[in-house]
Amino acid sequence: MSENIDSILQENRQFPPSAEFAENARIGSPEQLEALYRQAEEDYEGFWMQLARDEMDWHTPFTTGLDSSNAPHYAWFTDGRINVSYNCIDRHLATKGNQTAIIFEGEPGDIETLTYRQLHDRVCQFANGLKKQGIKKGDRVVIYMPMTPEAVIAMQACARIGAIHSVVFGGFSAASLKDRIEDAGARMVITADGGNRGGKIVELKAATDEALGKGCASIEHVVVLKRTDHNVGIVEGRDIWWDDLVAGQASECEPEWVESEHPLFLLYTSGSTGKPKGIQHSTAGYLLNSIMTMKWVFDINDKDIFWCTADVGWITGHSYVAYGPLATGSTLLMYEGAPNVPDFGRFWKICQDHKVTIFYTAPTAIRALMKQGDDFPNAYDLSSLRLLGTVGEPINPEAWMWYHKTIGKERCPIVDTWWQTETGSHAIAPIPGATATKPGSCTRPLPGIAADVVDKDGNPITEPNQGGFLVIKKPWPSMLRTVWGDDKRYQDTYWGEFDNRYYVAGDSARKDADGYFWIMGRIDDVLNVSGHRLGTMEVESALVAHERVAEAAVVGRPDEVKGEAIFAYVVLRGPRPAGGVDEALTKELRNWVAKEIGPIAKPDDIRYADNLPKTRSGKIMRRLLRTIAKGEKITSDTSTLENEAILDQLQGKA
Ligand code: WTA
Repeated sequence: MSENIDSILQENRQFPPSAEFAENARIGSPEQLEALYRQAEEDYEGFWMQLARDEMDWHTPFTTGLDSSNAPHYAWFTDGRINVSYNCIDRHLATKGNQTAIIFEGEPGDIETLTYRQLHDRVCQFANGLKKQGIKKGDRVVIYMPMTPEAVIAMQACARIGAIHSVVFGGFSAASLKDRIEDAGARMVITADGGNRGGKIVELKAATDEALGKGCASIEHVVVLKRTDHNVGIVEGRDIWWDDLVAGQASECEPEWVESEHPLFLLYTSGSTGKPKGIQHSTAGYLLNSIMTMKWVFDINDKDIFWCTADVGWITGHSYVAYGPLATGSTLLMYEGAPNVPDFGRFWKICQDHKVTIFYTAPTAIRALMKQGDDFPNAYDLSSLRLLGTVGEPINPEAWMWYHKTIGKERCPIVDTWWQTETGSHAIAPIPGATATKPGSCTRPLPGIAADVVDKDGNPITEPNQGGFLVIKKPWPSMLRTVWGDDKRYQDTYWGEFDNRYYVAGDSARKDADGYFWIMGRIDDVLNVSGHRLGTMEVESALVAHERVAEAAVVGRPDEVKGEAIFAYVVLRGPRPAGGVDEALTKELRNWVAKEIGPIAKPDDIRYADNLPKTRSGKIMRRLLRTIAKGEKITSDTSTLENEAILDQLQGKA
């Protein structure tokens, strides 16, 4: 691979687990971990089959493991029948009916707890309500909700009746919601009158109405949860209040026993083209890896209070809020709002008040909280914490050390978990009782996950610290099954690069001399802004949809807090603003993108030019734009540029 992905990061510190942690951990020694690796190595299919039998309750046991007959559309445990909601709830009732399943804290400070029994009843009532509205197995249901227990109840209820949910992050705009509803062909939207975030109300219902006003012909009903209790419009005949849907419904609902491969959900994510992909996950395979990673990576046990701060609109909020913690019979904490309400101590106060033991968040949040200084965390008792985790982007060693010292008091292992919407659950991550961690490395692939780094010909890179493509060489249970409605895009995107031999993650990585993986970034045109994936093309399409924009190119530049910031180069219809400055227009364009996609996609910088730099063959010179966005000196050859004079404009010098 080219020199520009060679890593400059050198980090040699190592942090083995403490003897105390290891002693109490499920996997408490490197030897135990090696034994698991060996099992997976010696009988790959059998390894996963055995776990699938041991860790999940089946209605109809399976006899087959991996089915490769339709590769690269792999299938697992195909002849079995199972239900995810049963495995997350019902099977714990006999022993844990009165144990707390969910602790919820709203942004205004309201607290609610649900036992497994109560959760069961509410999921069943809601599932029965869905059935009454005609929702059945295979129907798509879009969930556009705040982070309240009802979001999990809605997901679990869909799973219970075999409906396929597609959760849309509440921070996405009406336009994004509409695209996803239409691509999925959803029959129903489940939303709320609003959610509380940052001291304001997120107008989810208004955005739903706007989306439905512009299309979404497949939608028959909208279910509306009362959360904020402010006035929202209700469309007679179409809209149903949540409370009315569940009123009088029985608190028992026989689970729909679906095939292992029945789609549990779709989740849209960005790729290198403008259109988000509906990542389709299976039922049994997906659940299995959620369970195994809860046990291996989070070392979850019955005494834990597990808090993953991710919104259910992202994959992390699926595997480690809605499914994994419940499937392992744990107690999960959900928080509705922003980390800075009423101040930047909120997360630490929640950890203290609810005695959180495992805390899992994104590097961007850690950096933002670190910037606020140590007084906030130091004001709270964080002694309940025993394990910390990160996900979403590489964590810089400085933030890692702060997390380790100031939050974990040098006592809690940190699990840096690499995975993707597509992998369904952690793929490369430490085992906290067995792995010595290194700040900035996600360490080694989990047992049964054949991750590796290969060169452009697909050959494994054996020399340490050479960057290459991150691939997974064998199909694993929780991998995506396809892109909804677009098998070709699935095949091309994930398998095309190396002739269907490997799953290609789209990240570059290197392995050090100990075999530890260091993620170096994306190889496609995908940005990672605050741990959220955004396609540069998506932002570009949004910009050119504005009447004054003729052309746009979007790149990322490093940002201290967000990881990457969005840098947009814009060519206007009509003349370029004098001196390249038009603050009113810049503001308008930023708000425009927020409306088209969502506030997370707002460009941080916009620079106007008469033209974009293109090669003679008409390709936008993205590498050059990236160099300029970083404020670095241009060293590449610009002689092929059609119009060298625009370089000054792009650099903001003219
Ligand atoms: C990045 C999030 C470095 C990576 C679960 C991946 C990471 C993309 C890590 C997936 C990590 C995720 N270290 N990079 N620990 N975790 N990434 O689909 O580029 O939202 O491909 O899934 O995030 O983002 P997604």
